[in-house]
Amino acid sequence: MCGIIGYAGRNNCVPYLLNGLERLEYRGYDSSGIAVMNEKIRTVKCKGKLDFLKERLNKTSPSLSGFVGVGHTRWATHGQPSDLNSHPHSSESGLFTVVHNGIIENYALFKNQLIADGVSFISETDTEVIAQLLEKEYDGDFLYTVKKVTDKLEGSFALAIMCSDFPDEIICAKRQSPLIVASCSDGTFTASDVTAVLSYTRKIYKLSDGEFARLTKDGAVFFTENLSPLKKEYEEITYDISSAEKGGYEHFMLKEIFEQPDVIKKTISSYLSGGKIKTGLSAGLSEDYLKSVKRIYTVACGSAYHVGVTAEYIIEKLCRIPTEADIASEFRYREPIIDSDTLVIAVSQSGETADTLAAIRLARKEGAKVLSIVNVTGSAIACESDAVLYTRAGPEIAVATTKAYSCQLAVIYILALYISRIKGLLSEKDEENIISELLLLPDKIDEILRNARDTERLSDIFKDAHHAYFIGRNTDYAAALEGSLKMKEISYIHSEAYGAGELKHGTISLIEKGTLVVALCACDSVFQKTVSNIKEVKARGATVICITTQKHENDIPDADYLITLPDSLSLFTASLEVIPMQLLSYFTAKKRGCDIDKPRNLAKSVTVE
Ligand code: M6R
Repeated sequence: MCGIIGYAGRNNCVPYLLNGLERLEYRGYDSSGIAVMNEKIRTVKCKGKLDFLKERLNKTSPSLSGFVGVGHTRWATHGQPSDLNSHPHSSESGLFTVVHNGIIENYALFKNQLIADGVSFISETDTEVIAQLLEKEYDGDFLYTVKKVTDKLEGSFALAIMCSDFPDEIICAKRQSPLIVASCSDGTFTASDVTAVLSYTRKIYKLSDGEFARLTKDGAVFFTENLSPLKKEYEEITYDISSAEKGGYEHFMLKEIFEQPDVIKKTISSYLSGGKIKTGLSAGLSEDYLKSVKRIYTVACGSAYHVGVTAEYIIEKLCRIPTEADIASEFRYREPIIDSDTLVIAVSQSGETADTLAAIRLARKEGAKVLSIVNVTGSAIACESDAVLYTRAGPEIAVATTKAYSCQLAVIYILALYISRIKGLLSEKDEENIISELLLLPDKIDEILRNARDTERLSDIFKDAHHAYFIGRNTDYAAALEGSLKMKEISYIHSEAYGAGELKHGTISLIEKGTLVVALCACDSVFQKTVSNIKEVKARGATVICITTQKHENDIPDADYLITLPDSLSLFTASLEVIPMQLLSYFTAKKRGCDIDKPRNLAKSVTVE
């Protein structure tokens, strides 16, 4: 949520800032801007995507150039997307210029005080308050002034700050929002995400909460929260820069859909040894503890919450532990019943999601243990959990998640099987059989992807639709939730997911001739029940697209369209069902001319409540 880039180096900073912003645009794209130091600080910024900024820069005379600069791409929180609300923001005299990711909760207090002191504001943002406060508190010491101001702030921030009295440097500070620092022969960078700097270096320093960094062309120096010098170790990023590029695909989303067989295989195999789940899977949580767990909550948002819903069915079935899937933003405010026998499983691609982070903090405060399933190493959620199971999806750039979701499901299967084994509910033989089925998932997904053209044709019936319903029972229902979210978030078609048996309790009144109903019908134990529910919507005129497995394909006479998946254990069919639904959403959105990788109003990581 908002992308920050900063560069202090030996070359003109503008191309570095724009290249970084291109890679960070997935984090927010309401507006963007850059500020460059050249005797004084000059800023160019505007509403809209990065292309608008580039156009504006082309028309700016004299053109912006300098060795030190900061850039920002925004997902609006305070004030609507507009030129004035775009970052960077400067103090009244132009002494300080700031780019910010996060939310300052007590900004109104300072804003009122500053206005009373005669300071004029030109934007509605909380960030401008930081710039003005810096100027007010300034005593000639740049770093110390930043510390004084950040000490006063409540909320979250990642900051890259320039001061025209110190033309060669950028000061960085962070609390709860991510910020990295990297250095190479071209100069020194700061960014919200490693993808912004991977074309220059793989050696990355991750700033921790409370730490500061001073960037100059010669490198970065780090400071503790008390401004004592700090020696930090760098982390070597191993994944290839190509994983953050489109690689010939028209959209990141399509590329990431097609990466699924590979990343699921990587994720599963990282937890196996000799065809079995590795012992000590969840370092940080002992086997004795896992055996004693009496209640499990999954906490997550959006698609990750849907993984939690799947987990509810899988864990209860395999581990016989009461499991409840919660939306993180609801969990944290509903006084959940938590004690030391409670395990909270947090699921998050970014590892940054504010609501999920707050939910795990609450859970730990109340005595629960937290195990997180996270894609980004060293992210806030990973750092604040008792144990972490990483997904190996690699960088996911499209705002609509696909491969990270699929890897999260894979980890849920592994975790459930592991707990089941240590509780003595799964024999060695059963474990081996189930694992060998699990290992077949990537090839089965590959087979579905090879038939993507069929789904593309099917998207013709969706492209002019106004509404769609996704129904299913058990894990088919969990998958329906995800299919429905994918459809609405990228194609802007109103869509809802229902437990297939629940439809008749109200929502069936909306079904009329031609209403699109995607019925998921792969889960063996409820197959016949869902077939009856299909009949109910058919009787009211619905057009039914049924997703099922080979063994059931001849038993659904009422479907108007059939998508047939390879057979698998019902435990895993959610992983297969989601693939054609991702493709259906993708092709529908494409036919409707939507901005697939950057759907309106969204951002990839949601670091605000
Ligand atoms: O980074 P997280 O997994 O915590 O993000 C959670 C949701 O914001 C995310 O899954 C969102 O719903 C996606 N846009 C769905 O495609």
